[in-house]
Amino acid sequence: MEKRFKRIFLFIGVTSALNCYAQNEIVLNADKGKDIISKNIYGHFAEHLGHCIYGGFYVGDTNKTIPHKDGIRLDVIEALKKLKVPVLRWPGGCFADTYHWKDGVGVKKERPSMLNVWWGNVKEDNSFGTNEFLNMCELLGAEPYLSGNVGSGTPQELSDWVKYTTHPNGSSPMTDWRQKNGRPNPWHVKFWGLGNEAWGCGGNMKVEYYANVYRQYATFMTNWNNSDRIYRIASGASDADYHWTEVLMKELPANMFDALGLHHYSVIDWGKKGSATSFSEQEYFTTMKRALLMEELVTKHSAIMDKYDPQKKKALAVDEWGGWYDVEPGTNGAFLFQQNTMRDAMIAGATLNIFNNHCDRVKMANLAQIINVLQAVILTKEEKLVLTPTYHVMEMYNVHQDATMLPLEVSSNKYILGKDTLNAISASASKDKNGVTHISLVNIDANKTQTVSININGADYKTVSGRILRSDKIQNYNSFEKPTAIVPVSFTDAKLNGNKLEVKLPAFSVVVLELK
Ligand code: AHR
Repeated sequence: MEKRFKRIFLFIGVTSALNCYAQNEIVLNADKGKDIISKNIYGHFAEHLGHCIYGGFYVGDTNKTIPHKDGIRLDVIEALKKLKVPVLRWPGGCFADTYHWKDGVGVKKERPSMLNVWWGNVKEDNSFGTNEFLNMCELLGAEPYLSGNVGSGTPQELSDWVKYTTHPNGSSPMTDWRQKNGRPNPWHVKFWGLGNEAWGCGGNMKVEYYANVYRQYATFMTNWNNSDRIYRIASGASDADYHWTEVLMKELPANMFDALGLHHYSVIDWGKKGSATSFSEQEYFTTMKRALLMEELVTKHSAIMDKYDPQKKKALAVDEWGGWYDVEPGTNGAFLFQQNTMRDAMIAGATLNIFNNHCDRVKMANLAQIINVLQAVILTKEEKLVLTPTYHVMEMYNVHQDATMLPLEVSSNKYILGKDTLNAISASASKDKNGVTHISLVNIDANKTQTVSININGADYKTVSGRILRSDKIQNYNSFEKPTAIVPVSFTDAKLNGNKLEVKLPAFSVVVLELK
């Protein structure tokens, strides 16, 4: 063999041996926390789409088979309370820019019907409207985030919605109408979206035009008082459309907005999304590559915002994110109903780590969507209900809500497939109000256990405990027949020795550790 080739083989041999035995290393800076992980990073999104609202949340107030309160499923409320849903975005999505809220209030049988043109042309009878949604948020203990119709509505219509929901009794015809509809006092509605995907289904606008439209709509959304100030979120960029963010930051007056949105879906190829459950390792790898792109997107959009807002007063709200695959065979193609496997648990764990680590700018995120649509946390079928692997990740991670983020330095082994590589490990950490530290770790490697060595600076922990979510196959999921096939269990592979913590993460697993 030629000398040159020998050298190449030797190099390949040494690097792959190094990769096998290299350690994943994390430095936990336990005394360097300064930013709070807003609980709203753990937010959700509910659209009038498929069976998210009808059949998911709402089964009608005359339903005799499924336990409900005013038509809202009680099993769903119970499950979501455990998740500690902080904020819920509604009524869309694309649907929001076709929605006229006045059609959805008042006596139900007098409410007009419409066609849901974005999602299958099905009849929308408006039986679930503003009162039902806001009362449901109160039941859930979640803050509502109303997505206003800017694409096909009017500034007056949006201004009236603000009055109907938030202004004090007796202050306008809108608040009189609210009282007539059974709700004398205002709800607490802080978060308002001004349009959705204005660059697409929300009106196909150019950003320069949208910025003007935004200013017009925002002008008439009056705050009642400063203690309950409304928080306005502009329809943000799609993926890497940095021009969109740049123009909004330049053109929107600072007193007229609080956050910019951002939408990013982990989709393999919009023309060929692939099955949610029956996928190859290559498809898994590509999905994870798309999911991990969130790090770059958040970093680059934030850098643009930094130029105009160095003090980070304005937030980035990733108000749609998640995995998107082909619908389940035999279901309506417009209903976006997909199963949820360990692949989705990997997307959730890795993405939430990214958001936690960027909590100085990312103050809200809304997983798409909460029930029966895309990367759902709950699936329902008549009276049956399934909690998905994504639900369990969100539940395990809710310890980070409103905790102080602890900065980590992560050096990860590579997950290699063919010629491509991704970081196998992702992590984030926080300290809660009781002084307890939590570290969430994800190993996305489809094949290898990863041993992680964590060096602890600035704390002297005495105990470690934790929970793990894992399964035998990355394609595994919870079905209506086996709803608890994948659930978190106690984790015993974390060993604390002085200021060193050694953790063995099985292939495609999510672990959350508690250090005291
Ligand atoms: O979440 C489904 C759809 O995806 C939303 O309606 C839209 O905003 C996005 O394109």
